[in-house]
Amino acid sequence: MKLGVINVSDRASAGIYEDIPGKAAVALLQEWITTPFETAYAVIPDEQALIEEQLRKLCDEEQCSLVLTTGGTGPAVRDVTPEATEAVCDKMMPGFGELMRATSLQYVPTAILSRQTAGIRGSSLIINLPGKPKAIGECLEAVFPAVPYCIDLIDGPFIEVDPEKIKIFRPKQS
Ligand code: MTE
Repeated sequence: MKLGVINVSDRASAGIYEDIPGKAAVALLQEWITTPFETAYAVIPDEQALIEEQLRKLCDEEQCSLVLTTGGTGPAVRDVTPEATEAVCDKMMPGFGELMRATSLQYVPTAILSRQTAGIRGSSLIINLPGKPKAIGECLEAVFPAVPYCIDLIDGPFIEVDPEKIKIFRPKQS
């Protein structure tokens, strides 16, 4: 199984900021998921064409079952991660963004400024996370319980987790 993380950040990709968000996302996956996996990883600037290219590469060539993006979801001119996600997805999954914003609103009123979304490309689930490391944990923890079952439904690998670290939910098969 392969999982992808893309830190979308002009400053991190230029080496001005340390790549903390991308590493935070990988650390959470490693903490929660017990199924062995490799990580495909990239740090790229806030350019829609580059984000789309990297998403296509991680989904189609690297066959990542899950691709997390960090950053670029806000209202600033350079924030285009949701546009790139929508451009490459076959199907949007708006429930992810709705739940992440609702959860984030318990922490900060500015949660409504994130346009984060999620969608399916082939057998890959793409989820946008905000760029702040604290926000990454808050958002991913909220939606992750539904992620393994979503990946089951798109014919991805059966993902197992450490129930002491995170609870997931799979509806009982009849
Ligand atoms: N969500 C959580 N949980 N915690 C936060 O601090 N910051 C908000 C929002 N979502 C925040 C959050 C802010 S201030 C912005 S501008 C948007 O995420 C977009 O962030 P991004 O451009 O880094 O993706």
